[in-house]
Amino acid sequence: MTISTLTLNDGNQVPWIAFGTGTKLRQQDAQSPVENAIANGFTHLDGAQMYENEESLGIAIKASGTPRSALFVTTKLNQLQPNQTAKTALQVSLKKLGLEYVDLYLVHAPGHHTGQLKEVWKMMEECKRERLAKSIGVSNFGVAHLQEILEGAEFPPSVNQIEIHPYVWKSLQPVMALHKEHGIITSSYGGLTPLFRAPGGPLDPVIEKIRARLEFTRGQPVSLGQVLNKWLQSTVSWSSLSNSTSSKADRMREYLDTANVPELTAEEIESIENAGAQHYYKFLVLSD
Ligand SMILES: NC(=O)c1ccc[n+]([C@@H]2O[C@H](COP(=O)([O-])OP(=O)(O)OC[C@H]3O[C@@H](n4cnc5c(N)ncnc54)[C@H](OP(=O)(O)O)[C@@H]3O)[C@@H](O)[C@H]2O)c1
Repeated sequence: MTISTLTLNDGNQVPWIAFGTGTKLRQQDAQSPVENAIANGFTHLDGAQMYENEESLGIAIKASGTPRSALFVTTKLNQLQPNQTAKTALQVSLKKLGLEYVDLYLVHAPGHHTGQLKEVWKMMEECKRERLAKSIGVSNFGVAHLQEILEGAEFPPSVNQIEIHPYVWKSLQPVMALHKEHGIITSSYGGLTPLFRAPGGPLDPVIEKIRARLEFTRGQPVSLGQVLNKWLQSTVSWSSLSNSTSSKADRMREYLDTANVPELTAEEIESIENAGAQHYYKFLVLSD
């Protein structure tokens, strides 16, 4: 299966869907799930220093036998330790991962670097200049955080990875507008939150109706998760990349199969957004 790619604002390509090693896999051995994910067709692997499992991600990459150039590996900068820089932290990650470079290096959370965002971004730029990270970006950044680093940046962030699903969509409009202005790819996590973290909300009947319509049009099964992933793909008018995870091979294949699900209509997208706007629920609350 070929996974379609998006073009980042520095010209690099990123596969539209990633297999994540956070949430359930955080502080867990990720080797077997990542090997399964690669065997089932994932090429983009989303890691982080904070997940404390980069070694097992690296072991899985090696064990998969997949050429390095066919994979897209992301890691994220955690809080800086005394005398550490983004570059030295990345060098530690690269050693754990057994890699020469990562494809994408993100600042995990603005709250880890309060009052130092500009300096930290300069350090991230050094990682890109030295080709330790092909692309650089951020995660969990709001408008004020982005504005702070964009001012005087040599490289604008290529990606902002944030929680996106219909129950936060309305509140995200200012940050989405800034992404569009600067060509920042919106990367989502928590996309399935309405299904299993906040079930029973106003979205449920809407996505079930759409799921049934898509299944009828396709003539093959379509899941509720695929409806939400399809919405993520269709609605972010700039471009979005989706991070998901699963312990189950069937679900991994289902995530990738989203590419074969028929397009949502404009009315369906609007109905998802209207239902989402009736209820606010964010599962990950990070301090500034
Ligand atoms: N940058 C950040 O701050 C940040 C924060 C959070 C996450 N992330 C990244 O994003 C990745 C994905 O995160 P996420 O967990 O938020 O993704 P998600 O796609 O919202 O959820 C994936 C989880 O949903 C479960 N699931 C899927 N379909 C289900 C269904 N029909 N019923 C019940 N459970 C279902 C899966 O469980 P099974 O294992 O049972 O399939 C899996 O644990 C993480 O691994 C990490 O790499 C980044």
